[in-house]
Amino acid sequence: MKRFMSSSNISSMITRRSHSRSPSPRAPKRTKFAHLTPEDFKNGVMLAPMVRSGALPTRLFALKHGATLVWGPEMVDKAMLHSERVVDPVTGVVSFNGKSRAMFTTHPVEKPYLIFQIGSSDPELAVQAACIVMNDVSGIDLNCGCPKPFSTHSGMGAALLTNPDLLCSILTALRAAMPPEITVSAKIRLLPSQEDTLKLVERIVNTGISALTVHCRTRTMRDRDAALVERLKEIVEFVKGMGKGIAVIENGDCLGAEDAKRIRDLTGAHSVMIARAAESNPSCFSLNPLNDVERTLCPAYLRVAKYLDNNWGLTKFCVAQFKGKHVDLDKAAQKQYRAVLHGTKGFDGLEDIVGLWTGEDDFREIVKTIEARPPRLYAAAPPPDQAAVPSELDQATTPSGTSNPHPPDSGAPLMLALHRLDLPVLTGHDPLTPTPTPGLPVAV
Ligand SMILES: Cc1cc2nc3c(=O)[nH]c(=O)nc-3n(C[C@H](O)[C@H](O)[C@H](O)COP(=O)(O)O)c2cc1C
Repeated sequence: MKRFMSSSNISSMITRRSHSRSPSPRAPKRTKFAHLTPEDFKNGVMLAPMVRSGALPTRLFALKHGATLVWGPEMVDKAMLHSERVVDPVTGVVSFNGKSRAMFTTHPVEKPYLIFQIGSSDPELAVQAACIVMNDVSGIDLNCGCPKPFSTHSGMGAALLTNPDLLCSILTALRAAMPPEITVSAKIRLLPSQEDTLKLVERIVNTGISALTVHCRTRTMRDRDAALVERLKEIVEFVKGMGKGIAVIENGDCLGAEDAKRIRDLTGAHSVMIARAAESNPSCFSLNPLNDVERTLCPAYLRVAKYLDNNWGLTKFCVAQFKGKHVDLDKAAQKQYRAVLHGTKGFDGLEDIVGLWTGEDDFREIVKTIEARPPRLYAAAPPPDQAAVPSELDQATTPSGTSNPHPPDSGAPLMLALHRLDLPVLTGHDPLTPTPTPGLPVAV
């Protein structure tokens, strides 16, 4: 029997920042959690895993503008093992902190759509890392495609493509260890020969994964080389022929929601995953992506990043990548914007770009948009013991006896900034993009 699972109301979890910074008391409430099935990996346009560029605010803006699911940046298993999970009691941001910095941050609002990507060459370590994050994510993905030496020299990433026994043992271990509501998936690259690729795909699919992403480049190809999308059709047919119902996701050279249709037509893939185009403009998941990003996306992004206490260096890096089509903005205004951004060493000093620090309101709008998605429909049985699944509300509260080492000092009382420079075009808002990804709920 088909059942609807309601998404939880995260809005009720966001506490207005107060001068005292003490969270208001909240009654514990159990919320249902809509877990993913292979069907949820179909008919979608996904945000790709991207180290640095796939930061929490980027994932939130991608979801706001229509991304179906979002992958987090690759985290190496060993690094996660020593992390400490802390929750900001005001914003609900969950941080997995290393010795000196947060290695991975997430927010409960993205949990129903978040896939956590692990870099690993060891089944046991992969499982341990997955267990650390599994209450905060919906799926675990194994990176089998990174060609960089820091990955491959220790047998991770693309090195797994030529060690299928190890690759499959990691996926099998993850599938066995994770509860049924956590999906396990893999992201691979093409092997030089199609025959070898199909053999590898067959083994991977037989491990019980829910979805397979194929980056249509071989290990030695660079991003500037055109992706070999034409090779994917046969792989998709092959996987469909295996009859397990798993989703095949194309990755490589997709420019946005409109282009995803072309790629799906060409390859027959169930879904498409976007990296660099989303790094340039996280609203590319909409059929009407934002133009003039300096005036629309960037101010809102900076405000949200400050409210969520996102690391400044990471925020600046991400914003520096944004590049949109310009319709109204002239070259001088763009240059002035870049100059302000490059010249600043922290969030303070950006009032000329962002206007008022209304990040809390921007964030609430994102939450509202995400929550307006219709409940997920799924055919599989719900987890046997719903009560055993920790509620998102519970997880958004710092456990007693735990202190948050990074007090949320970054979005506190909204500042009435004065516009010292005359930059009227830059202090804007990123409006909702009215036509998100095909097959997706329309944001209201
Ligand atoms: C900045 C950046 C960081 C990336 N980090 C990851 C990563 O953490 N894990 C991964 O599997 N791929 C990573 N990739 C590769 C992308 O996910 C994607 O496979 C590749 O960029 C091809 O997609 P595209 O043509 O849409 O850019 C990264 C790519 C970029 C540009």
